[in-house]
This record gives sequence, C-alpha cells and structure tokens, in this order.
Amino acid sequence: MPAKRDDSHGLYTLGEPVTGWTVTTALPVTYQVSFSPGVLNPANPALATAGATPGRRLVVVDATVHALHGHRIRTYFEARGLPHRICVLPAHEQLKTMDSVFRVAEAMEGFGLARRGEPVIAVGGGVLMDVVGLACSLYRRSTPFVRVPTTLIGLVDAGVGAKTGVNFGPHKNRLGTYHPATATLLDPAFLATLDRRHLSNGLAEILKVALIKDRRLFDLLEQGGETLLAQRFQGPAAIGGEVLVRAVHGMLQELQPNLWEHRLERSMDYGHSFSPTVEMRALPELLHGEAVCVDMALTTVLAQRRGLVEPGQRDRIIELMRRLRLPVWHPLMEPATLGEALTDTVRHRDGRQRLPLPVGIGEGCFADDLTARELASAAAELKELSCVTQ
Ligand SMILES: NC(=O)c1ccc[n+]([C@@H]2O[C@H](COP(=O)([O-])OP(=O)(O)OC[C@H]3O[C@@H](n4cnc5c(N)ncnc54)[C@H](O)[C@@H]3O)[C@@H](O)[C@H]2O)c1
Repeated sequence: MPAKRDDSHGLYTLGEPVTGWTVTTALPVTYQVSFSPGVLNPANPALATAGATPGRRLVVVDATVHALHGHRIRTYFEARGLPHRICVLPAHEQLKTMDSVFRVAEAMEGFGLARRGEPVIAVGGGVLMDVVGLACSLYRRSTPFVRVPTTLIGLVDAGVGAKTGVNFGPHKNRLGTYHPATATLLDPAFLATLDRRHLSNGLAEILKVALIKDRRLFDLLEQGGETLLAQRFQGPAAIGGEVLVRAVHGMLQELQPNLWEHRLERSMDYGHSFSPTVEMRALPELLHGEAVCVDMALTTVLAQRRGLVEPGQRDRIIELMRRLRLPVWHPLMEPATLGEALTDTVRHRDGRQRLPLPVGIGEGCFADDLTARELASAAAELKELSCVTQ
C-alpha cells in the first residue's frame, strides 16, 4: 500500500488502519569560517559575539596555547566584560581519547552551561578542536561551539570542516560525529609561536589541496613555501595570505557539497588512504601531516608509474616535500603495513578503494584497481627515490 501524507509535512503513514510511519526531515546547516586577524585584541568583537548574544563563555584551551597565550585570552574576555571560565586541557595525538572528551563534558557540567546561548569556545590545534567538538556534539545531544585554531593544520583543515573525533583502539578518528562549529575565527598570528615541525605538518595539508586541485597553490608553495616556513607566516609577503585563503577555499569547495560524506569519493581524502594506519602505528614518531605526506609521496609514485604524472612532475613534487621539510618515506611503508592499511581504508570506503590519485599537478582522479603487487613495487621505488634524492 502506498504511503499517505499526514497533515504535517514530512510525516507519511502506511496502511489503513495505520500500522507504520515514515518520518522525513531536512537539517539545514549554516556555519561561518572567517579570517579575524587580532582575534584576541579586545577591540576586535568577533570572538565575543561569535555564535551568540552576550552571556557567559566556557573557554577550553590547549595547555601549550594556554602557557603561551593564556594571559591574552583572559585579558580579552575581561576587557569585553564577558563572564568566562577557562578550562585548560593537555592536547596531543596520544590524548585524543574519550577520556579527554569526558574531561570537557565535566567542565561543561561544572560550568552549568546553558543549552543554546553559551557556545563553548575551543582554542587550540586539531586535537583540541576535535575533542571539544565531539564533547559538544554529545553534550545534550548538541551544544554549539566556536573554534579558534592555533596551528596551521587547524587553520586550513581541522578548523574548517564539520568533523569531530577521537582515536579508538589502534584506529585514527574511529569515534566521531559531524558537528560543525557555529563559527571558526582564523588568526594566523598564533603561528608565531608554533614550532617549525608543526608548521611543516600543516604545509602538508596545504600541499594536498595544491596537488589534487590547485596548480597555482603548488606554484606559490614552490616559490615561497620555505620563506613562509622560516617566517612562520608572519612576514610581510602577500603570498602567505594567498596560500592560506586558497587552502581554506579549496578545502571548503570540496567539503560543502558533501559535508556528511554520503559520497565516498572524496578528493580531500588524498594522502589519507594509507596514512591513518601508518600514523597510528608510528605514534608518536610521525605527526598527522607527516604521515599524510609519505602517503602523498607514495601515491605520486604510483600515479607516475600509471602514466598519470610525468617523471619530471614527480621529482618536482618530491623535491617540494623535502624543501617544506616533510618526510617522503618511512620504514612502515612496506607491503605488509600498506596492505593492511588499504584493507582498512576499503572498509572505511564501503568496500571499494576509491583511491584519490594525482593527475599531473593540480588535478586528480580515483582508482579502484590497485593490486598488492603494484603497491609493493611503488613502495620499493619510493624507497629508492627517497635515498637518491636525499
Ligand atoms: N576534524 C577535521 O576535519 C580534521 C582535519 C584535519 C586534521 N584533523 C586532526 O587534527 C589533528 C592534528 O592537528 P594539529 O597538527 O593542530 O595537532 P595538535 O592539536 O596536536 O597540535 C600540535 C601541537 O602544537 C601545540 N600548539 C597548538 N597551538 C600552538 C601555538 N600557537 N603555538 C605553539 N604550540 C601550539 C599543541 O599543544 C600540540 O602540542 C589530528 O588529530 C587530525 O586527525 C582533524
């Protein structure tokens, strides 16, 4: 018997007399991502007004960021007359667990957080934002939050999408939700205190966008990447601004039409096919972006062997990775680990490889036919290349 529409839109009844119902509804999602230089300058209202009317704020701050910038955070809220409590949370990859999520939930409970009008503010890198985001999505099933990323990965990647998550067992981000922050405020000034290695780490995610969809971004990184690294994106050169804007824009262009990842062919998964397993097994040796980079180096070699990338382009890509002080190989890039990584990724992508590969520089395609033998040969070639070009 066909479904009949009830009075209210989206409710359908089945049977006569009614024995079943179908409920359909849509959840419109709107969130803001914007550059807000001087976000902790009391004259800048953006943070105080983000996502809500005046009220109180629970501010969850990464412990390192608190040591470096805590006084400015406190001064900001005091100067704006906004009652607040600061919760300091140690955050790094090994603390990306449900225990950290529970700590944030306890802080929310202790603060007596209002349901809608007091967005939690997360100030920190990708780990802190993913943990706070997950806590907020769970607390009363959904609590608004605002992100202030303080690392390069945070600025161009973890801070702009909809995903939250923590690691579970040996698996990266295995527990998580889609719960975008109401607003994300991007202030590159935080990068002034970030160490060189974490800047390179973020440049890997920028390079991902460049390789798979933005040739101009690749050229910019070739021209000025090393300077950006040396100057921590604080130099006068306009190139830093263009690199950040292109990276964020490119990322959002890909995320927006597929925010809930119903389509599992995702170009932004480039560099994330083998790296989740490699990163977790190498912990704490490899940072997220470093693992992404060795994955991109491997898939660049794979693409070259398939004739999708020219040998000269492959060499330029590997050379740029080195100049950005990123690793291009790791001992875990061997057939057994790579095979297991691919098996896990195929499971994650619903039974198909859907492997993003570069086509030249700045475009990509998806492959479904990678064999264990091809993978092993590419890994062996990458190992050789990494020794030759070292
Ligand atoms: N949700 C998403 O869509 C998404 C996207 C990309 C990455 N991620 C996640 O992000 C994480 C990586 O993020 P990350 O690289 O920011 O790591 P991170 O959060 O561990 O931060 C790196 C280190 O820098 C410190 N730090 C942060 N800001 C600083 C500053 N301004 N000055 C000095 N030190 C500072 C932190 O304390 C930490 O020790 C991974 O867990 C990854 O899975 C999530």
